[in-house]
Amino acid sequence: MATILLFLRLSIAIRSTAASDANGNSTSRLDEVCKQTFDADLCIKALSIYPESQTFDFHGLAGLAVRAAASAAANISSYISGLLEEGSVEDDEDFQQCLYDCEENFVDAFDQLDELTVVIDNKEYEDVNLWVTVAETDRRMCDEGCKNASSEKKVKLVARSEEFSRLCGIVLNMTSFLATNHL
Ligand SMILES: *[C@@H]1O[C@H](CO)[C@@H](O)[C@H](O)[C@H]1NC(C)=O
Ligand SMILES: *[C@@H]1O[C@H](CO)[C@@H](O)[C@H](O)[C@H]1NC(C)=O
Ligand SMILES: *[C@@H]1O[C@H](CO)[C@@H](O)[C@H](O)[C@H]1NC(C)=O
Ligand SMILES: *[C@@H]1O[C@H](CO)[C@@H](O)[C@H](O)[C@H]1NC(C)=O
Repeated sequence: MATILLFLRLSIAIRSTAASDANGNSTSRLDEVCKQTFDADLCIKALSIYPESQTFDFHGLAGLAVRAAASAAANISSYISGLLEEGSVEDDEDFQQCLYDCEENFVDAFDQLDELTVVIDNKEYEDVNLWVTVAETDRRMCDEGCKNASSEKKVKLVARSEEFSRLCGIVLNMTSFLATNHL
C-alpha cells in the first residue's frame, strides 16, 4: 500500500513538472496562483521554500500549500513539547495544562493534513473542506483551552497558531479555485 502511494505521489510530481515546463515562466506562476488567495505574501513565503514551487502547476502548488500547513502544525507541536520538556512553564499550571492539550491538537491537525495530501493528489477537491475544517477545529480547541492563560509565552504560540490558520485558508482558496474551474 505504502509503495503504491509513493508511486502515485511520484508520478503526480513528474506529471506536474512536465506540465509546467511546457508553460514556461514558473516564478510568475507561483505569484499568479498565490494572487488567487487572500494572503499572497504568506502564500509566496511559505511555498517558495520548496524547490518544486518553481516548476509545479496549480494542482502541484495546492499540494505544496498542504505540505506547508502540515509542516506548520508539526512545528507548533514540537515547539510546545519543547516548552513542556524544558520545564519553563512549570510555575504556570493553567498554561501547562492547556499546552498538553494543544500538543495533542496540533499532532492531530498534522495527521489530518498529512492524509489530505493523498486527497489532493487524487484531485478530490470537494472533500478538502472537511479535512481542513477538522484541522482548524483542532487549532481552535487549543486557542480556546489556553484562553485564560496569561503567560507571555502564549503570545508566540498564538502568532504561530494564527499563521497556521492562514495557511489552511490558503489551501482552501486554492482548492476551491481548482474545483470551480474544473482544473
Ligand atoms: C517571468 O516572470 C518574471 C517575473 O514576473 C518576469 O520578469 C519575466 O519577464 C518573465 N519571463 C518570461 C519569459 O515571461
Ligand atoms: C518549521 O521549522 C523548520 C525548522 O525550524 C523551519 O525550517 C520551517 O520553515 C518551519 N516551517 C513552518 C511552516 O513554519
Ligand atoms: C476561563 O475562565 C472563565 C471565567 O473564570 C471560565 O468560565 C472558563 O471555564 C475558563 N476557561 C478555561 C478553558 O479554563
Ligand atoms: C479565501 O479564504 C479566506 C479565508 O478563509 C476567505 O475569507 C475568502 O473568502 C476566500 N476567498 C476565495 C476566493 O475563496
